[in-house]
Amino acid sequence: MTSRTSGINKGMNMKRIQKQAYAYINGNLEKAIIDNRVFGSFIEHLGRAVYGGIYQPDHPSADTAGFRQDVITLVKDLHVPIIRYPGGNFVSNYHWEDGVGPVECRPRRLDLAWKSIETNAIGLHEFYNWILKVHSQILMAINLGTRGIADACNLVEYCNIPSGSKYSDLRVSHGQKKPYGIKTWCLGNEMDGPWQIGHKTAEEYGRLATETAKALKQIDPQIELVCCGSSNSKMPTYPSWEAETLDHLYEYVDYISMHQYYGNEDGDSENFLASSLDMDDFISTVCATCDYIKAKHRSPKTMNICFDEWNVWFHSKKNDDNAMKEAPWRVAPSLLEDIYTFEDALVVASLLMTIIKHANRVKIACLAQLVNVIAPIMTEKDGTAWTQTIFYPFQALSVYGRGVVLESNIDTPVHTTKDHPIVPDIEVLATKDSEMGTISIFVLNRNLTDSIDLRCDLHGCDHYILSKQLILHSDNLHAVNGPHSTPVYLENQDCATFADGNLVTQLLPASWNIFILHQKRVALE
Ligand code: AHR
Repeated sequence: MTSRTSGINKGMNMKRIQKQAYAYINGNLEKAIIDNRVFGSFIEHLGRAVYGGIYQPDHPSADTAGFRQDVITLVKDLHVPIIRYPGGNFVSNYHWEDGVGPVECRPRRLDLAWKSIETNAIGLHEFYNWILKVHSQILMAINLGTRGIADACNLVEYCNIPSGSKYSDLRVSHGQKKPYGIKTWCLGNEMDGPWQIGHKTAEEYGRLATETAKALKQIDPQIELVCCGSSNSKMPTYPSWEAETLDHLYEYVDYISMHQYYGNEDGDSENFLASSLDMDDFISTVCATCDYIKAKHRSPKTMNICFDEWNVWFHSKKNDDNAMKEAPWRVAPSLLEDIYTFEDALVVASLLMTIIKHANRVKIACLAQLVNVIAPIMTEKDGTAWTQTIFYPFQALSVYGRGVVLESNIDTPVHTTKDHPIVPDIEVLATKDSEMGTISIFVLNRNLTDSIDLRCDLHGCDHYILSKQLILHSDNLHAVNGPHSTPVYLENQDCATFADGNLVTQLLPASWNIFILHQKRVALE
């Protein structure tokens, strides 16, 4: 590891120099409005996300519809405004009609994506009722793997047309008089991936998605559509997939999707903690590709990003591959049940900070996923619902990171990791919520060994006071939470001072810090 100040530390006998970083934040320079939907998440019919996760009728906390209320409480604590459903890989062979109508008549189906049995006990109506309970909305994914335009049309008609047509009347006959009015729809899932049921070339997908988009917007012109981008930045077809598909789709869709998962497979924590630099580059490249097609088409429209799958995912991968091979066709098997560490939580914090920094283009983002499957919330079958380490940074950003992104610059020591020649020790994100009268400053020290002094010059913030300081820290990068202990969570701290527009603090190595400023109350006459 090298660092900007490391030259000074070369002599073995020389005193170690305390590292310094300087941040410049302008409280009046608003860079972009943050769309609340960047705090979205994802529930797929996969593993124990639905069955045994959100839905478990025999659990003591289940409500009359069979939904676990302990899970509902934790989901509400995260303030998730949009939830992608029902997949993921699952959706690419899903027949939505299997999940509506009398439950006792619904078929059991082979789920080819996760080698499981889908009972269809939960379908559209049930999930919608759950969505209302958690105060969210659905980001609905359509099967463009094994199905086509007609089935997609039928689903949108079923959901969004009031009545008087075959599928809208079918919905009414199933007890839902009012249309669901689902606003945002994903045209398939990861269609560039050879693992996808119904995988397509860019040309095949571009054509199918375009014709589907045209038809769906005829049924409901108010809907918004998301087309599939690359499944990740390592795909051999990235970024030509984006360019080729958008050449067909540009005028018909509103967002292009991005997906990316990170992991520390080789145990290189420094490199892992720099993952957000890769995400930052990925977002910039996808935006540049969209802008190239915009220019090519002489289009006035700017394409936005729906980053509808992002997270850390690697702990469970090997076991899951074996489990699906050795014991296929089970109902709700335990799959993708990563147990997250403290370092994973730091990475999740930096990833969501990166998404928010791109608020001018990223309008929707979904932490994948929400319950039991690579999730911040876990459930015990006969016990409690509990919070993983990653729950805390997601919750804090969702609660304190709304409003607008403020202009900020940082002068920080840097270091080098395996995949990243220049890694800033410090990352800063500043947001302002005018409704709440707050400015939030989120600061990551990703240096694993050095504490760093931070002086933050807050221009135009004289009428604010420092009202809250929080820290996510552990001496053990591999610390995990469990059903009965939560060693990793956000604690209050009291290390910073704020005077004369300067916030001064010392950041612990491997720590994520939040400083909340509140507008001073003006005494009312
Ligand atoms: O979120 C888990 C899986 O990851 C999703 O089903 C798929 O879209 C992605 O590859």
